[in-house]
Amino acid sequence: MIAKQNVENRYREVFEGEPSHIVRSPGRINIIGEHTDYNEGFVLPTAIDKAIYVAVAKRDDDIIRLYAEDFNAYFEIARTEIHPVEIGWPNYILGVIHQLQLRGARLGGFNLYVNGDVPLGAGLSSSAALECATGYALNVLFDLQLERVDIAKIGQLAEHTYAGVNCGIMDQFASVMSKAGHVLKLDCRDLSFSYTPLELGDYAILLLNTNVKHSLASSAYNNRRAACEAGVQLVKQHHPEANSLRDVTVDMLDNFVKSIDEDIYTKCRFVVEENGRLNAACEALKQGDLEELGKQLFRAHEGLSEEYEVSCSELDFLVDYVRVFPEVLGARMMGGGFGGCTINLVKRSFQDLLIDRLTPVYEEKFGLPLTAIKVVPSNGTE
Ligand code: ADP
Ligand code: GAL
Repeated sequence: MIAKQNVENRYREVFEGEPSHIVRSPGRINIIGEHTDYNEGFVLPTAIDKAIYVAVAKRDDDIIRLYAEDFNAYFEIARTEIHPVEIGWPNYILGVIHQLQLRGARLGGFNLYVNGDVPLGAGLSSSAALECATGYALNVLFDLQLERVDIAKIGQLAEHTYAGVNCGIMDQFASVMSKAGHVLKLDCRDLSFSYTPLELGDYAILLLNTNVKHSLASSAYNNRRAACEAGVQLVKQHHPEANSLRDVTVDMLDNFVKSIDEDIYTKCRFVVEENGRLNAACEALKQGDLEELGKQLFRAHEGLSEEYEVSCSELDFLVDYVRVFPEVLGARMMGGGFGGCTINLVKRSFQDLLIDRLTPVYEEKFGLPLTAIKVVPSNGTE
């Protein structure tokens, strides 16, 4: 956890002035429901106790000056000349500024300091946290009167336009809207949502970070999205009312997609079935049936790995390794895939033993560090 005081102090050192607002926007986990958000399906995320912190203050001129602690780097641009840049991190902030300007927001010059403890590129949505922290901070700084959900939507559009990933709404929505101790069941079709207590008794959520990030991840992500859209188009020829995979059943896929394109069929069927698994998992959580919840996680991993094909050998290894322990009720890869973390439902008292056993085996096999992360479901942006 990064102390608010440190953020304030560092702002003073970096910009030689006082910050007027400090905003914290968290990373997220997702219990189940992967690659469903951009198909108007359901997701079951919650924010975690790791976040991006942003400190801001207005300037007297038209300059926007940024500083990222983790990169030890400044970036400066005129507020009238916002455009995507070569270096990565400013784009998430510039993308949000651009979206605000498109909506007619009158932003003056400002300083913005960023720090955070969401591991980068680990599938915990550090980028969404940065977008939402920026959006929230500028909303208060310039009194833009935006609702929380607008901030999430602006973050998502920033990711599309300035990071080139056609992501769904899950990460930004979870960062902004989560409630401590709960998971958020979000219907990505109309953004209606409900909170369910995450009561795990003797069990805990443990993340295992592969520390892998494949460079092709974002193009593969966009390809999967295109495959889903292609599947909908094939169904639509027979069911004009079908606008997304949410409107599509496995029967429709069997009848209208399977014989035309086996790969598109398999991808689409995964998404339709993943929504079913999410509903079963959510019901199991409400009933306190953690064994059933765990089974849905394992099943989801099989689908992500073999059908949707967004896993990698490191993620598959971690899930296979933990599967044999009775203390582990469920595990799967989490997020977009091709690296990042697995999410594990593990007996609390067994976590450290599992980490001790698994770490040397993983590191020996893949020549990469394994990072274990214990997370606490936390409040959204504040
Ligand atoms: P993730 O799954 O964590 O969102 P991405 O690759 O989509 O992974 O986004 C990570 C990028 O977000 C980083 O490369 C960086 O550009 C930006 N970012 C994340 N955390 C920070 C931070 N603390 N400071 C500056 N930029 C950050
Ligand atoms: C994330 C993406 C989300 C969601 C997820 C897969 O990386 O940002 O919108 O699609 O992958 O469930």
